[in-house]
Amino acid sequence: MQRLAPALRQDNVPLDLIALIKTILAATKEISFRVSQAHLGGLMGSTLDENIQGEIQKKLDVVANELFKDILLESGFVKAISSEEEDSSVAGEQTGKYIVSFDPLDGSSNIDINSLIGTIFSIHEAPEHMEASNPDMFKQSGNRQVCAGYVLYGPSTMLVMTTGSGTHFYVLDRTHGGYLLVKRNVQVPEDTQEFAINMSNQRFWQEPMQNYINDLLAGDTGPRAKNFNMRWIAAMVGDIHRVLCRGGIFTYPADSRNAEQPYKLRLMYEANPMSFLIEQAGGLAMTSQGRIMDIEPSSIHQRVEVIMGSKNEVEACLGYYK
Ligand code: F6P
Ligand code: MN
Repeated sequence: MQRLAPALRQDNVPLDLIALIKTILAATKEISFRVSQAHLGGLMGSTLDENIQGEIQKKLDVVANELFKDILLESGFVKAISSEEEDSSVAGEQTGKYIVSFDPLDGSSNIDINSLIGTIFSIHEAPEHMEASNPDMFKQSGNRQVCAGYVLYGPSTMLVMTTGSGTHFYVLDRTHGGYLLVKRNVQVPEDTQEFAINMSNQRFWQEPMQNYINDLLAGDTGPRAKNFNMRWIAAMVGDIHRVLCRGGIFTYPADSRNAEQPYKLRLMYEANPMSFLIEQAGGLAMTSQGRIMDIEPSSIHQRVEVIMGSKNEVEACLGYYK
């Protein structure tokens, strides 16, 4: 099994980007350890604070965010960071070549039930002419990501990452403390009989999604003429990992629960990095209107509709919106 740095050099990743990736991974190793010790270290449960999204922060959300932020800002490689847990971007080194967006702990509702959680990250080049304190640096489409990935704190701590030359799986080997490449060029099967959606929102979806899911549920006697299985981990990292491993469609569609907020997932540190990983593995990552990575962002915490996974199934779903 290959170590991380030689694997990245094989993909011609520039040395300064490798150094930044190693910095990010140092933070994930510490988060992995703290997650495993959360019960023993008094890190279960919530703080009394809300983040900018209006969600009550878990203690581990805060710890993971501080860790990630400190290690990145101290590294010297980073011009600014933006995080799910920060109101605005935070300035780093004016000479830093990169900007990093991250969700320090995705799937927070799983923390207290000792279930799957992970860290998602997305790296862009920093525009040279802008001040480090200018949040407009982050208004770059997903197409301009130079690296994206997530670390899943599951039975194994796994890194899934792309630098634009395929999506690769790595596992944290605690004996030497580094990530080892376990699968190069993961491919999402084009067809699937598995879908992931939060069914409890069904009555709030738009008609095309209602019709699509009804046809899946109708099984082999319905219009799709095959049976479908359903899975929902309630952590995007877990659901997307399953899709990368064995195919599937994952969607968080528009819904009418809150008229001012039709979408749930965030573009910069959830949808874009996952789209880069899925597309590099041969899948599709769309909204009902077009490719997610083509969206020109208007703000750091922008939310977006997400329909991604096995190519033929995503196309089948989008057919209902035409
Ligand atoms: O970060 C948002 C998130 O927790 C995702 O990881 C997950 O896919 C989704 O929200 C779960 O949403 P719900 O709680 O509505 O099932
Ligand atoms: Mn999240």
